[in-house]
Amino acid sequence: MATPSTLVKVMIDAVRKAAKGLTRDFGELSNLQVSKKGLADYVTAADIKAEAALFEALEKVRPGYGFLGEERGMVEGTDKTHTWIADPLDGTTNFLHSIPHFAVSLALQREGQIAAGVIYNPATGDLYWAEKGKGAYCNDHRLRVAARKTLEESVIATGIPFLGKPGHGQFLKELHQISQRVAGVRRFGSAALDLAWVAQGRFDGFWERDLKAWDMAAGMLLVVEAGGRVTDLAGGDAVLTDGTVCAANLDLHPLLLDRIKAA
Ligand code: IPD
Ligand code: CA
Ligand code: CA
Repeated sequence: MATPSTLVKVMIDAVRKAAKGLTRDFGELSNLQVSKKGLADYVTAADIKAEAALFEALEKVRPGYGFLGEERGMVEGTDKTHTWIADPLDGTTNFLHSIPHFAVSLALQREGQIAAGVIYNPATGDLYWAEKGKGAYCNDHRLRVAARKTLEESVIATGIPFLGKPGHGQFLKELHQISQRVAGVRRFGSAALDLAWVAQGRFDGFWERDLKAWDMAAGMLLVVEAGGRVTDLAGGDAVLTDGTVCAANLDLHPLLLDRIKAA
């Protein structure tokens, strides 16, 4: 049975606190008789509350750590070696549409390296966690990336740019390169869960552009700790700053990257 360290327990506790409010707000959404704008404002408020819950819970147990959150940006800490990287609600569009596929994502960066990560989907109860050098888990189960070795048998996840995002033309070129060679392409709408599902072997690979550090920090570690490889789309290590990502097992990663580079 997997036993999370004190650090991971602290993170799980904070993530569960944030998720509690999200679950309540998600349940309320269907009762809301409000305009589209009113709904969007409601979700934004849910998002901000969830981030505040994370921030407060973490500040209490690890005072002085920095905090980079999607809603509040960078809050410098007195401890310059530790920074939390948090997305209180990844999969906002799903949440807004009452689609139960969203997550709280939290990572700890220590001296520039991701040391631990937790991703929680309150709608399914799937709690993913990983610590550097100690493996990746979903609830009690150790995670391993899928063993498939060819694109032909693989299901690959991605993110499709939407209104206001750049890169629609480039995405179509990449899709053209990949869709004709794989068993299926999926777009589920939460980059954090996309990475968690690569770690879990549900998806064989994942690529996306124009992401933020908080979308990927925890998920990246899950994939690596589950035996996979994660790079930016140039094949380098600048995932968190570059905002592009390619994740898969060791056999598929070069094949996937090769097709993206060919696009
Ligand atoms: C989004 C999700 C989505 C990805 C978008 C992200 P948000 O995050 O991760 O899968 O395609 O680019 O912005 O806005 O739901 O936190
Ligand atoms: Ca996000
Ligand atoms: Ca978000």
